[in-house]
Amino acid sequence: MDPRRTVLITGCSSGLGLESAVELAGRGWHVVASMRDPGKRAALDERARRAGLDPLDVVQLDVTDAASAQRAVEETLELTGGRLDGLVNNAGTASGGAFEDTDEAEWQRVLDTNLLGCMRLTQLVLPVMREQRAGRLVLVSSDSARYGNPGLSLYCASKWALEGWAESLAYEVESFGIRPVLVEPGNYDTAMWATTPRVIPPDSPYRGMLQTVERYVEEEHLPRSRDPREVARAVARALEARRPPFRLTVGPDAKLATVLGALPHRVTAAAVRRVTGLNRWKP
Ligand SMILES: NC(=O)c1ccc[n+]([C@@H]2O[C@H](COP(=O)([O-])OP(=O)(O)OC[C@H]3O[C@@H](n4cnc5c(N)ncnc54)[C@H](OP(=O)(O)O)[C@@H]3O)[C@@H](O)[C@H]2O)c1
Repeated sequence: MDPRRTVLITGCSSGLGLESAVELAGRGWHVVASMRDPGKRAALDERARRAGLDPLDVVQLDVTDAASAQRAVEETLELTGGRLDGLVNNAGTASGGAFEDTDEAEWQRVLDTNLLGCMRLTQLVLPVMREQRAGRLVLVSSDSARYGNPGLSLYCASKWALEGWAESLAYEVESFGIRPVLVEPGNYDTAMWATTPRVIPPDSPYRGMLQTVERYVEEEHLPRSRDPREVARAVARALEARRPPFRLTVGPDAKLATVLGALPHRVTAAAVRRVTGLNRWKP
């Protein structure tokens, strides 16, 4: 029998999922790296090769598609001989724009990926982990779960909901040896921001506000983004530590977010308006 610990990770075509897959494989885990389009596996293969690793097992998995999720979990269990020590719910998406300009299809896209996708996968692996009386559920959340962000209401809604769900779930599964861990990254250098769809109609009354926020993000936030391998190491800690914290904040932005988010809302909001430049904007 393969003695390696086994983990299924979602969203391994790029960014934090890809780096987590390589980090864990390097630590001796049997990694099943899932992606919604396995045709995109070249970046993962290249990173694994540079790390001196054999190509990882890749399965197709679109977290918004129940049949794909079911198939991916079955394939994973075939590859691992029926055992699963960890699930890393990493796949995610964002959406930039003022809430009033968004439509229900966009709300559903973001919530389906960031919230329902995690719920879907978790429900599929819980019977296996319960039977084992052991398992780690790593949920990649965000420092955006600590306070609201202008122009990112759908993303924040999905991550806040994820955290409330995870906190409740933890009470239900802990007696079976299953531990959910929220990983909250701050600002990391991935494709996320560049690929985030912007919903900004030309006649939007919020246009100036969104441009102000975008300017802050482009000029001040993104240049400070950090090496995604830091998050990969935090994911490994969430899986390997005997008693990981329930919320694992990663990087200075996330640490600051925990402090900022715990302040009275008036103070938090004043800081966000000031930092983003919103305090100088009038419609
Ligand atoms: N980067 C940051 O600063 C940061 C900060 C806080 C939290 N996060 C969180 O970190 C996670 C990973 O994001 P990232 O920064 O690594 O961005 P990324 O490079 O854009 O990676 C996102 C990954 O999710 C996948 N994905 C999107 N929709 C999917 C779906 N329906 N089914 C399966 N996979 C899907 C993407 O696959 P495709 O290639 O097919 O699109 C991609 O592999 C997200 O949950 C994000 O919210 C990131």
